[in-house]
Order: sequence, then structure tokens, then C-alpha cells
Amino acid sequence: MTDPRSHYEAHGQGHVFAHFDSLSPAEQQALLDQAAAIDLAEVASLHETLVTGGGVKDEDRTGDLEPADYIPLPGHSETANPSLWREAALKGEAALRTGRVAAFTVAGGQGTRLGFDGPKGTFGVTPVLQKSLFQVFAEKILATSRVYGRPVPWYLMTSVLNHDETVAFFERHHHFGLKPERVHFLTQGFMPAVDAGGRILMADRGEIALSPDGHGGALRALVRSGAIRRMEADGVDTISYFQVDNPLVRCLDPTFIGFHLLHESELSSKMVPKAYPGEKVGVFCQRGGKALVVEYSDLPEALVEETGPDGQLRYRSGSIAIHLFNRGFIERLGGGGGGNACLPFHLAHKKVPFVDGAGVRHEPAEPNGYKFEMFVFDALPFAKNPIIVETERADDFSPVKNAEGVDSPRTCRDDQLRQFARWAQAAGIPLETDETGLPPFAFEVSPLFADTETRFKKAWEALPHKPVLTEGLVLV
Ligand code: UD1
Repeated sequence: MTDPRSHYEAHGQGHVFAHFDSLSPAEQQALLDQAAAIDLAEVASLHETLVTGGGVKDEDRTGDLEPADYIPLPGHSETANPSLWREAALKGEAALRTGRVAAFTVAGGQGTRLGFDGPKGTFGVTPVLQKSLFQVFAEKILATSRVYGRPVPWYLMTSVLNHDETVAFFERHHHFGLKPERVHFLTQGFMPAVDAGGRILMADRGEIALSPDGHGGALRALVRSGAIRRMEADGVDTISYFQVDNPLVRCLDPTFIGFHLLHESELSSKMVPKAYPGEKVGVFCQRGGKALVVEYSDLPEALVEETGPDGQLRYRSGSIAIHLFNRGFIERLGGGGGGNACLPFHLAHKKVPFVDGAGVRHEPAEPNGYKFEMFVFDALPFAKNPIIVETERADDFSPVKNAEGVDSPRTCRDDQLRQFARWAQAAGIPLETDETGLPPFAFEVSPLFADTETRFKKAWEALPHKPVLTEGLVLV
């Protein structure tokens, strides 16, 4: 093995070791470990194609697009077939009963927009108890395991930025009632940030500025970490993927799972019609018969606003980042090239604090660095029989992304309350709401009490002493 320092020197990255001799032996080893994990040829080629070469041209990304087909919800389209939905539900329930499905949360991101210091999954979101996002998912997974009489394993992807804190949080909270051996953490890969000239930026004298390789890194992380092999040994062939920011998500939706299995799909996705043309969600499209997601920032303005003869937006299929993966598909994609990159990288131009050759720290006011990230939805064109299934936004999507305004803790709390209020009203409980369905006070339904409208009704009817719905009531 060549000396890492001369290897870096040969790639024009010798500055990474500029302060090496002044580091402690432990710091030296840490830097050598970081350096050894970076593929310098890959970094150089990404810099050349994405930074110097200007990346993928807009017309390459967005030319010849058509809106994607999707399976509409009953009642939302004349073509919807309710009996197919019932068949799908039965199929998905059988899969849950036989332990074929694992839950998978991607939680390796930085969550910078929310301005919360800590792993995003530890952020409190529920209206009364302020339960963390992780706790909400854990209780939903536990509820499903109980309903179908089969424990569902849960895989969580963390990153160098938050792995230790995430694991400690779960330990502190006794895994929220889940068996620790059924909760599996895996850490995603990372990429170095580079400057405009392609030089690797140093976060400190002995530390490379690293960032997670994007949620698309999930595929190779599942393979590299051995998670895929473990799933195979456990009889899991379907992976229910969701983001850490969305507490309304049905982590394990039997109907969605059923459609995925009935279609022998390798990758299925949920969609909701966009709430307004400029909503910041990826859009399902197709090109040459292949489904793909075009990120909101890449969709040409003309298509954003384009309407069809029915007056509806043509490009309305919003991606809410809920997918089902077939295990074999991940093995194929994530294992390609010995577990190396399998999806294209995207470029992000960001402010990256760095230490220069003289050891001076800089906090740039303007973007100075480039980060490379893979997006999981770029797997879509490679999948066999992909399907897109419509879902009710109110029962599947209300993310916490921004500190204020849209997709904020406030809007998410209100959407949870609206859901609890709908369930209560459907169970015959008198409850006044405003015209948006929001009740006048905050109460909370634990997923362990009920995680669907039907199960709420059943659980409510089974209560020997029915409490009065008031401010602060928690149904557990
Ligand atoms: C994302 C999607 C968008 C979709 C929207 C729905 C992208 C580029 N866009 O937007 O199409 O409509 O969600 O809410 O993804 N993560 C990792 N590791 C990483 C980076 C991110 O695990 O390296 C995780 C985050 O923890 C989070 C999720 O991926 O759970 C989403 O990341 P984020 O960058 O916040 O995506 P959005 O821009 O919100």
C-alpha cells in the first residue's frame, strides 16, 4: 500500500497533510483513516464533470418530459378501481403477517433549515407531549407489529454527523418500547467538500470537511453495512423507506405494500397532487417510458404552471419521499462496483467553514465549497415495474423542514391535530373544528392507542370510561 501522503500529493491534495507533523498520534491516525476512505479519483472526476464542466445541462435533465402515470385513489378519478385497493390491502396485510417487510428511515441529513441543534429525529413534534419524531415512528412500528402479530424490524440510516448522538438517544429512551435487537443502525458514506479548484477543504488542521453522501447513499450503505444480508436471513424482501422529517407518514402502509407486491415492482412511490404549482416537492415524470423524479428546482417554469384540458396541473405528482424497495433491487444497485457509487451525484454549493494552509480558520459569508450528494429517487429509472400510488396528503405527509412558515413545527402540529380530530369525529365524538378541520384545543392520540381511523373507532368504543376531549388529553 502506497503511503497515503504521497498518494494525496500525487492527486494534488497534499495540503490535506500540511499540519500532520503537529498533530497528536491519535489525531494523525484519525486523519489517515478519513483520508483512506476517500476515493480521490472519484472526487477529481466529480469536480471535473460537475464543477468545471457545469454538470448536467438543464435540457438533459428536463427534455422530453411527460407527466408520470399513477394509480389514483378511489373517488379521485373515474378510472380508480376500489376493488383493486381492497385486494392490495389484503396482500399487504398478509406480507406484514409473514414478516416480509422492514421499516427504513433515512436520518443522516444535517437539518440545517430547521435550525435545531441535534439529530432531527430527536426534535419534539406532537401537540401535547412533544414526542420526538423517532418516538412517533417507533410507536407506529410497534403498533403495526402488534396488529399483525409479527415484529417489524426497523433500520435507521445515520451519518458521521449524528450517529453517536442518535444511538445514545435511543438507548436513553429504551428504544421506545421496541426490542433493541430489532432496531438496526447503519451509517451512510461521506464525501469531502472541495473548493472551486477541486482542492479538498479541511474542517480543522487534522480533519477533512466531510458531509454525508446524500440519501441516495442509502443503497450502498444498506449493502456495505450487511443490513441487506440480515434482511435476507430474516425473510424480509420489502423495505418501507421514509424520511425522518414527516411524523404523519404511515411507516408501513398495507395497501401501498400490496400494490407494490401485486405489480412485482422493484421500486414503488407515493404521490400527492401538489398543493400549489410552486410547492417544493420533487415531481414524478416519465421520459422514454421510464419513470423519474425531477427535483422542484430543476422543473422548467413552463411545466410548473402547465395545466391540462381538465384545468389541473399536468405536472402535479408531488413526491413525498415515501418508497418501497425490493431487497434484490437494492442488492443489484447498491452492490454495483463493489459497493461503490451507483447513482449519479448532484452538486450543492454551500458555505463550508475551513482551515487554510497556515492553520487560519475561515467562516465564509458566501458559498465557497462544493458538496456531492446522491438522491435516492435517481434509482427510479433503473427499477423494473415501478409504480406510483396516490395517497391522501392529510394521512401521510406533513414534514418539519423550516423553523417557521410552510412545513414548520406549527403546520405539522396543526396537521396532526386535524387528523386526530377527523378520527374523533368519525368515531362519533362531538367536536367542533374550524373550517380547516382544526380543533380549538390540543389533544393527542398515541399510535399505540390507534394509528388509523378504523382502529381509533374500535379502540374508542372499547374504552369502558370515555374521557372528555379537552385541552391536553392524551389517549394512550
Ligand atoms: C426532499 C426531496 C423532495 C421531496 C421532499 C419531500 C431531495 C433532494 N428532495 O426534499 O423531492 O419532495 O423531500 O419532503 O431529497 N438525508 C440523509 N442523508 C443525507 C441527506 C439527507 O439521510 O445525506 C435524509 C434527511 O435526514 C431527511 C431526508 O433525507 O430525512 C430528506 O433530506 P432533505 O435534504 O431535507 O430533502 P428535502 O430538500 O427536504
